Amino acid sequence: MALQSAIINVMEKAVKKASIRLVRDFNEVEHLQVSRKGPADFVSRADVRTERTIVEELKVARPGFGFILEEGEDTPPEDATKGTWIIDPIDGTTNFLHSIPHFAISVALEKEGEIVAGIVYNPVTDELFWAEKGRGAFVGNRKLTVSSRKNLDDCVLATGIPFMGKPNLGTFPAQLDTIMPKVAGIRRFGSAALDLAFVAAGRYDGFWEENLQPWDIAAGILIVREARGMVSEFDGRAKVMQTGQILATNGSIHGSVTRLLSEARKINRAKQI
Ligand code: IPD
Ligand code: CA
Ligand code: CA
Repeated sequence: MALQSAIINVMEKAVKKASIRLVRDFNEVEHLQVSRKGPADFVSRADVRTERTIVEELKVARPGFGFILEEGEDTPPEDATKGTWIIDPIDGTTNFLHSIPHFAISVALEKEGEIVAGIVYNPVTDELFWAEKGRGAFVGNRKLTVSSRKNLDDCVLATGIPFMGKPNLGTFPAQLDTIMPKVAGIRRFGSAALDLAFVAAGRYDGFWEENLQPWDIAAGILIVREARGMVSEFDGRAKVMQTGQILATNGSIHGSVTRLLSEARKINRAKQI
């Protein structure tokens, strides 16, 4: 049984408070699918409101901490003893917009350049994934460990398919071409934060995506690492938070997927010549 620390309790309280309204909004979105205007404006208001509620709660619980926010203005911490919250109020907005119950609130705490705590919460399923540096990863009270699959042909990998407005749309097909024939299946569920949480839970054996933002992955990275998984850029380098390029696996298949992604990179380079 996991004993949550004070900081995880603070984070859980903030996201659960925001989730009450968010779940109500999600139910409302279903009705708006058929309206002429559609639910887009409504959803962006839900996004901003959720973030605001979380920020207000965290400000009261931990005064002087900084914020890196998807929706609002970033603020630095008051001094070096304080941390910075990194928040994505709805990760999986497209799912939310289409009434697909697969999205999450992601909150991470960074201190001195390191992620020290993270939670990813799906308010519809009430699954709370969380981790603290050096203390393991959990879903609710249950400890998480990545899968033990070693052969790629048994593995299910998740990814993010780039979409309108994303840079380098053309580089993805080569990745799919090289990885697809080698694995049991590839999934695109639409929330990078949950993709990472699912790697930690051993549901996926790996996940790769590029052009992500710190709030998409900060909490998830810690959850995977604390579940004894491995996280790097595609070529094994470590600046994932800066580049937004991520490969997260159970560790056993990390080298093999790195090699496949390197093959894809060569194919893409050849296409450009
Ligand atoms: C998105 C989700 C999605 C990923 C996109 C992200 P958002 O975040 O994480 O899975 O493929 O790149 O932008 O916009 O729903 O917060
Ligand atoms: Ca996101
Ligand atoms: Ca978002």
